[in-house]
Amino acid sequence: MVSNFYIPVEVFLGENATLKVGEVARRFGFKAVVITGKKSSKENGSLQKVLDSLKKHGISEVLIYDEVEPNPIDRNVNDAARLVVEEKVDLIIGLGGGSALDVAKAVSIVSSNEGSVWDYVKYPEGARLVPFYNRPVICIPTTSGTGSEVDRYSVVTNPIRKEKLVVSHSLNYPKVAIIDPLNTTSMSPYLTAVTGFDALTHALESLTNRADNFIAEEYSVKAIRIIAKWLPVAVNEPDNLEARKQMSYAAMLAGIAIDHLGVALIHTLEHPVSAHYPHVAHGVGLAILAPYVTKYNYEYRKDKYSLFAELMGYPSEPHKAVDSLVEFIDTLGLPKTLKDVGVEKEKLDRLTEDVYMLSRHSFIVNPREPKELDEIRELYESAYEGNL
Ligand SMILES: [Fe+2]
Repeated sequence: MVSNFYIPVEVFLGENATLKVGEVARRFGFKAVVITGKKSSKENGSLQKVLDSLKKHGISEVLIYDEVEPNPIDRNVNDAARLVVEEKVDLIIGLGGGSALDVAKAVSIVSSNEGSVWDYVKYPEGARLVPFYNRPVICIPTTSGTGSEVDRYSVVTNPIRKEKLVVSHSLNYPKVAIIDPLNTTSMSPYLTAVTGFDALTHALESLTNRADNFIAEEYSVKAIRIIAKWLPVAVNEPDNLEARKQMSYAAMLAGIAIDHLGVALIHTLEHPVSAHYPHVAHGVGLAILAPYVTKYNYEYRKDKYSLFAELMGYPSEPHKAVDSLVEFIDTLGLPKTLKDVGVEKEKLDRLTEDVYMLSRHSFIVNPREPKELDEIRELYESAYEGNL
């Protein structure tokens, strides 16, 4: 087996890394747009830090697009891309959680090529257009979970059809990731748990799926070890800087891992849930589904699930992977069933159909390849009822 490894993203990681943004941005031009959410980057002070640093380093014009919503929609990308084109912006800065970073990256593609965001998302039959250019993007995460700051993916929701689709292209990487754990200290314990569980699922799925990569799997292994130890600390002690630093690092490692290895059926089943029920955070959907999908999978890659269990501090046996997840989710205080978060039972058929329509290309990388859609429907039903 040949493993490849490629990370075209320059990373600055550490306390006060945010103060580097002005110096870094100057490499790419003089006119910037900051793409961010409506509130948190203003409330936690990170937006002001970014603006001050840009000013200090002579970035003379800075526009702000602050309409990004959680589970960002097509309009966010297309509107911001229009702004970038009309205003002749040199560089794009994404500041916020995964949503802001995903939008910033997709805006780079759409503003530098023809068409709209739907032309670049990956359907089972591929994307409609191939991008040829991009504008430089600097990503500054304010959560520790998504890994978007180092990967090629942007998840965008179609709000009419309630579908989550993914842009995945080598031009969708940011040029620079500025990862400053100080930007994550204002996350609530709940948001810390939710985003941290996303990072854990990235590490779990990249380690266990069928896409082998000897180099990248080391990143998954390291991420699991760190998250098992430090996520509960970050949840219980929001001001613990060492925990914040470790989680920022682990989320980045897990992001690099999925960039090389991809995710699998936990993510495949989660996307329709948060697409139809936008109040369900991505990490919450993952936490609900992870034990069920892991139970469905573990017999098919026993070595990897044994390793996962061991890294989580359990005996090195494949079925212990399920126990470790159940207890970890319990420790984090996350919801346990789809019913608990308001999913309607009559919607399970539609969720199953969406998995087939949008993501069946991912079945083949899952440790156990689903052969019938009934298997997907049964997984949803178990996660709905809480029948593990
Ligand atoms: Fe994720």
